Amino acid sequence: MLSGKRITLIIGGGIAAYKSLDLIRQLRRAGAQVTPVLTRAGAQFVTPLSVAALAEEQVFHDLFDLKDEAEMGHIQLSRVADLIVVAPATANLMARMAAGMADDLASTLLLATDTPVLIAPAMNVRMWQHPATQRNLAQLQADGLRVVGPDVGDMACGEHGPGRMAEPAAIVAAIRDHFGPRPLTGQRVLVTSGPTHEPIDPVRYIANRSSGAQGTAIAEALRDLGAEVIFVTGPAQTPPPDGVTVMRVETAREMLAAAEGALPVAAAICAAAVADWRVTTDSTQKMKKTTQGTPKLEFSENPDILATLSTHAQRPELVVGFAAETEDVIAHATLKRTRKGCDWIVANDVSPATGIMGGQENAVNLITEAGVEDWPRLPKREVAARLADRIAQVLG
Ligand code: CTP
Repeated sequence: MLSGKRITLIIGGGIAAYKSLDLIRQLRRAGAQVTPVLTRAGAQFVTPLSVAALAEEQVFHDLFDLKDEAEMGHIQLSRVADLIVVAPATANLMARMAAGMADDLASTLLLATDTPVLIAPAMNVRMWQHPATQRNLAQLQADGLRVVGPDVGDMACGEHGPGRMAEPAAIVAAIRDHFGPRPLTGQRVLVTSGPTHEPIDPVRYIANRSSGAQGTAIAEALRDLGAEVIFVTGPAQTPPPDGVTVMRVETAREMLAAAEGALPVAAAICAAAVADWRVTTDSTQKMKKTTQGTPKLEFSENPDILATLSTHAQRPELVVGFAAETEDVIAHATLKRTRKGCDWIVANDVSPATGIMGGQENAVNLITEAGVEDWPRLPKREVAARLADRIAQVLG
């Protein structure tokens, strides 16, 4: 959603500058181009080298640097972006902006620009609450600047209260909002993801090869369209996305409880590879080798989360399941759609030869009431973006 957008990121001199490195990473992942400007004080907290490495762009930092001016003058720098973001915006930087000062590169380009500006204030709680800062804030808002944060919480200086810079995911969300309303804003959706672990005894469990990559990508794509995402994940290799509510579970029964607890939601996307069976004889003590031979495990069927949500009194408007098959993919998946009572099935062939389970790409068929669609083999992220667009068409 941010692909092709040019963001000039001004990093002010506060301890929160370290979070701006993560902000750059997240913006780059969302497809934005980031031109970093580091103030003199900002360079005391993060190095130009790390900023440049993450942004994959030159860092601009000095108004009178001949090399900077030759490559891109400060007036040009103030015009090339679609949005200028100041993060962290310190009390000092806010004061200089409010007063219209132009005594370094950052303040000069902020004065020279006709591009929209978003600031993420970060400072000590007393500095934030000081009438001077509140006066500057009101002035900046009156001048048309947008503000994200600050958050309330424990601060690096040991005090507690408002003043912490908004988390990078919240800043990215504010940046996305700047570029227009998103189709799933105000909609709450549930995504299940990853494998489940079913204990045999306190140290052993039954698992499967799901990495959680596809479910994570779907949660990210729905978040990027503005949805509030409840992400219920088993122990997956892929880390959960930023900017979603993460609920970590181990077993299928825990996953069901978390999923039902998330209701009501507008849509549920069950991408988890839930274990069909659990070990009934789950032992409270570690099973030991005995002279009586190998242990016999007994299994019970796990609850079916997708089927439960599909027939729930609080059934989501749209319920989407996955069908991981190794043969007769379409036939099995079509039957699965009616058997589970869901609206759509995303079917994929997970035979080892396809390299899909645990891999970066996916080739799926979308099975709806209207029929079967063949989607090309695509990176999981793109499968997720397409699916999220289709979900937005139904819910939007
Ligand atoms: N699913 C679920 N709860 C379960 C089992 C599966 O929610 N206990 C969901 C999965 O998240 C997926 C869909 O059901 O969206 C199909 O999962 P899959 O493993 O392909 O099917 P199974 O239900 O195991 O059916 P089969 O044994 O016939 O393959």
